[in-house]
Parts: sequence; C-alpha cells; structure tokens
Amino acid sequence: MKYTDLTFEELVSLCKRRGFFFQSCEIYGGLQGFYDYGPMGVELANNLKSSWWKSVVHHRTDVEGLDSSNILHRKVLQKSGHEDTFTDPLLDCLNCKKRQRADHLINNKCAHCDSQNLTEPREFNLMLKTQLGPVNKDDNFSYLRPETAQGIFVNYKNILSSTNQKVPFGIAQIGKAFRNEITPRHFIFRVREFTQMELEFFVEQDSDEKWFEYWVENRKQWWLEQGVSKDKIYLKPQDKDELAHYSKKATDIMFSFPHGEDELEGIANRTDYDLNSHFLKMKNKPYVIEPSAGLERGMFAILSSCAVKETTEDNKTRLVLKLKPHLAPVKAAIIPLAKNNSEIVNLCHSLLKDLLSYGYGRIRYEDTGNIGKAYSRNDEIGTPYCITVDFDSIDKSINTVTIRERDSKAQETIPLTDIKRYFDEKFPR
Ligand code: GAP
Repeated sequence: MKYTDLTFEELVSLCKRRGFFFQSCEIYGGLQGFYDYGPMGVELANNLKSSWWKSVVHHRTDVEGLDSSNILHRKVLQKSGHEDTFTDPLLDCLNCKKRQRADHLINNKCAHCDSQNLTEPREFNLMLKTQLGPVNKDDNFSYLRPETAQGIFVNYKNILSSTNQKVPFGIAQIGKAFRNEITPRHFIFRVREFTQMELEFFVEQDSDEKWFEYWVENRKQWWLEQGVSKDKIYLKPQDKDELAHYSKKATDIMFSFPHGEDELEGIANRTDYDLNSHFLKMKNKPYVIEPSAGLERGMFAILSSCAVKETTEDNKTRLVLKLKPHLAPVKAAIIPLAKNNSEIVNLCHSLLKDLLSYGYGRIRYEDTGNIGKAYSRNDEIGTPYCITVDFDSIDKSINTVTIRERDSKAQETIPLTDIKRYFDEKFPR
C-alpha cells in the first residue's frame, strides 16, 4: 500500500465537495477572508472545540470557563495597547497599485508584479470597528475583539470573587475574534473572522518559567492526540523582535501546512501586562501564561494530516480522511444491502433510531448508490464505521450486521444485540 498527501488544491476541493467549508457569500462573488462551515465542517469544529474544552476545563479543577461578548468597550482596547500597537506595516506598489504587507515581501519586490517601485510602509490598525446605537458620530464606535483574551482579563476579578479559585488557576474561553487582515490567504489559514481557543493561566511571578514549559508541552501533546502528524509539528521559540507588545517570551507550535510551515498555536508569557493595564490598583498581580490556538488552523492542520490518497498494489486508489473517531463529523453510516427490500430498510431505520438515541453523535443512513459508492463517500468525510444491513440481519436465526472499519477496511460481523457494546467501546465518554 502506498500513501500520498493531498496537494493544497486537492484538499481545498475535498473540503468544498464534501461540505466542510464554503466561501462566504459565494453567490455574490464571495467575501474575502470569510468562510462558512458546511454540514461536515460544523461537526468537525464542534468536536474539536469539545475536545479542547474537555482537556483544558473539564479534566482539570484549576480552570474556569467563560463566554464574554464579541464587541468590547473601546477603553478595553485602548488600555490593552491594541488601539496603538495592533498594526501591520502596509505599502503600495506604484506600478500595479496593489496594497500589501511590507513584512511579507520577498526580496523587496511586489508580490503581484515583481516591481520594486514601492511606497514606504505605513502602520495599519487591524481592528474592526462597529457603530453602537442610532447616532453615527466619529467617536461613537466600539471594536470587535481582535482576541478573546481581553474579555478574560476584564472579568478577572469577577471570576476570582464568584469561584473558589486561587492562583495558580486559569480562565478558558472559546469564541470568535475579528481582524481586518490585509492579505487573507491560504484558505482558512488567515481569515478575518476566526475562532480562538484561549486559556489565560495566572501564576505566581516566580513560577512563570515552570508553567510556561508545562503549557508548551501540554498543548503540543494535545495536538498530537487530535491526529496532527508528529513529523509535521515542531516548536519554535520567538525571537525578541517577533514578540507581541504584551509578551516577554513566546513559543509557537508550528505546522507544515500545505502552503508551508506556519503558526498553529502560540504560547506566550504575557507577564502582568494586561492586569496592570486594566486594574491599576490591584495588589500582587500574577503573571499570565497564555496558550492561544486557532480553531480554523487546527482544522486545517488536522485535515491535511489525515487526508491521504491510498494506492493498493493492483493500482486501485481511494481518498480517505483518517480522522480520530472523536473528531469524525459522522460516527457511523448505516447501509442497506438491498434498498428495495422493506424488511432490510425497516431494520436500518430502527437501528438508526437506536444508535441516535445512544448519543454518539451523527449517524447517517446511506441509501443512494451502491455499497462501493457509500464506502467511498464515507471514507472521504472520515466516517470511521460503516454498518451493512443484509439478508443475515433480517434472518431471525442469525441477526447479524457487518461493520467495516475505515482505515484497515477490515470487516467484522457482530450480532445486532452487541451493537451498543461495540460502539460504547469505540466512542467512550
Ligand atoms: N491572545 C493572543 C493572540 O491572539 P495571536 O498569535 O495573534 O495571539 C493566536 O493569535 C492564534 O489565533 C494563532 O496562533 C492562530 O492559530 C489564530 N489566528 C490568529 N490570526 C488568525 C487569522 N487571521 N486567521 C486564522 N487564525 C488566526
């Protein structure tokens, strides 16, 4: 058996064809830097968010959850330093007139026409503004949050006083962030509306190094458990001149995306910068260690790690998404061997009802096309198990179904009465 990775174009095409991601507002020409999650994408996103939440909140006692508002008081972003410093350097090409990021140029040439006739760079703020209330005055605006973290910092005292947590402890949040990226690109890698999974972990000042190392290792391990390829992930400490305005030290978890090596998650030591900015009069401010992951980049890394073209020795190929079962959008597909046989179809429906009631997640009934097509459709969306209901299933003296496992294609025949035990083992809760 030979396995090959998908190219960037093949992966993007699979994601659209099978309903993972669609360009936002496509029928009107598309809105650049925005994507909609299709039926498979929303399941994958929810499963990945749930896995993060379990690991960071539910499996620990020292982290509390939060869901704060997407729009922030302007003062929050002034105090945090974002209004002054959350910028990208921009320049214009005087030849083709295209505006672009100065720090993305290669050999000081325009990325579109190779001209070196460029303006000096100017700083451009990345935050998106919105107007609140009916009066449209110049200073009557708020910002859409550029990171979920600020909602955590401004709630720090509320969470301390409403729970029994003491430092060291953390506050976790999953939510949308918005940035007016100049050059959204590489599919869902750099977009203008995205989801962050952020933890702000507050520690005694003299234990910051220890906790920093702890979270770097913890987060890298978690990505491996989500199926990200071990040989495509590595740690990259940031140089001093790369650090964000709030950060003393940072390490990026890097991944070899189809477009090249890039940041998947950042772990930063934000010191007491943010608590100082918002709570001037507070005593004994702890330091903050912040693991901050992007959901879209996570899905992209997982999809590109798990999508393979498999070629057998007799040159048969199949495209298969080897997702970990806990992330698979569809947990099992039920396929009738003879879709015109009412006994088989009825049994499929009663099995579907039972499996749905056990709460494993999405279960699909597949009665279009033949068995081969049903397998290949489910291989491409990463369904780990296909259950075939056949003539043995409706024979009261036999009553078995055949379950095909996605990666090995191995088939196992089990009594219908064992199906709950079988899937309870496959999808432990
Ligand atoms: N609170 C810290 C923070 O926001 P960041 O490095 O700017 O730090 C953290 O962002 C993570 O958010 C990144 O590692 C990446 O996964 C994700 N992210 C940032 N900008 C993004 C964008 N334009 N599109 C998609 N994901 C993005």
